[in-house]
Amino acid sequence: MEILRATAEANPNMALIKYWGNRDESLITPTNDNVSVTFDKLKTRTTAAFSDKFKEDEIYVNNRKMITPEELEKSILQLNFLRMKYNVSMKAKVVSYSMTPFAGGLAGSAAGLCALATAAADALNLNLDKKELSILSRVGSGSASRSVYGGFVRWLRGDSIDGSDSYAVQIADENFWPEFRIIIGMVSSSEKKVKSRSGMRLSKATSILYKSRVDYSHSVVNELVKAIHDRNLPRICEIAMRDSNNMHAVMLDSWPPIIYLNDTSKRVINAIHDFNQSEIKSAYTFDAGPNPAIFTISKYAKEIENILKECGIENIIAANVGKGPAPIEEHLIDEEGNIKKHCLKDGELIVGE
Ligand code: PMV
Repeated sequence: MEILRATAEANPNMALIKYWGNRDESLITPTNDNVSVTFDKLKTRTTAAFSDKFKEDEIYVNNRKMITPEELEKSILQLNFLRMKYNVSMKAKVVSYSMTPFAGGLAGSAAGLCALATAAADALNLNLDKKELSILSRVGSGSASRSVYGGFVRWLRGDSIDGSDSYAVQIADENFWPEFRIIIGMVSSSEKKVKSRSGMRLSKATSILYKSRVDYSHSVVNELVKAIHDRNLPRICEIAMRDSNNMHAVMLDSWPPIIYLNDTSKRVINAIHDFNQSEIKSAYTFDAGPNPAIFTISKYAKEIENILKECGIENIIAANVGKGPAPIEEHLIDEEGNIKKHCLKDGELIVGE
């Protein structure tokens, strides 16, 4: 059977100004420009294979076949967009391994949908530039649009109705600030109760504070970009913490309210403010889950890890700034279209025959 296949790895990213809501739900165009840093842990590897022989799209993640519409939604939306835009009729078999805990509010879909976009485009020889790759990643998962670059990244909201001007641009690459750290505390890896896509839809429709969040993020995004260029840690951290708090305020203000933070998250917020008392040296941020990510620089990293431990968090991942997606020679699907055995061993993905 003739199959076209390619494999890619992509890193997750953590937002400093968050994306929380769409202008257009089907195109995934955000209501506000947002900014993230790509980090070098919890990556995803994905092999995408296309063939006329495949009867339907099949998606496997971490050795499990995705079955429910909810599990399949993001990948299928992305594959359908790709088929329509680039005139492809073949169905796909996708095998993916994610090092990120599932749907725990830890940016897993960013790495996953960026890796799928990259692998699928390579398999079909589409030769996409970064802008097109970002748009393809975006229609799978908004945050994935930012993972197409390493370093610090801004996702432009855009204004057009077809979404063609809503894509990521790089602010500074992965070598710009080697001391920058992203320290993640795993409070919970369980599935979040409200998925980010439905949560943001609810917030946009019901939160009284929503409009002021959009206005506020417009007013501060250029300042954040400048603070990154200046490596101005205190300013970056203040903007990031206020944005996270603002997004979680909007979540609480949604109806019915959405609450992702738990007591451990709140302990971390207070502990970071104590640590920052004389000077701002770190920032907490939370996505759609209770797990804190702390931005800081290398000389404070050990202290931050101790703070997280004192807050009761045992599982801590310290990451550096990471790179954009890259092709990988070792596929998870063989030449006949069969899934190769694969598993994680000592933090490395081992692939058999
Ligand atoms: O694109 P999604 O479904 O991964 O949504 C991401 C939303 C947040 O993680 C909460 C914020 C962000 O900008 O990453």
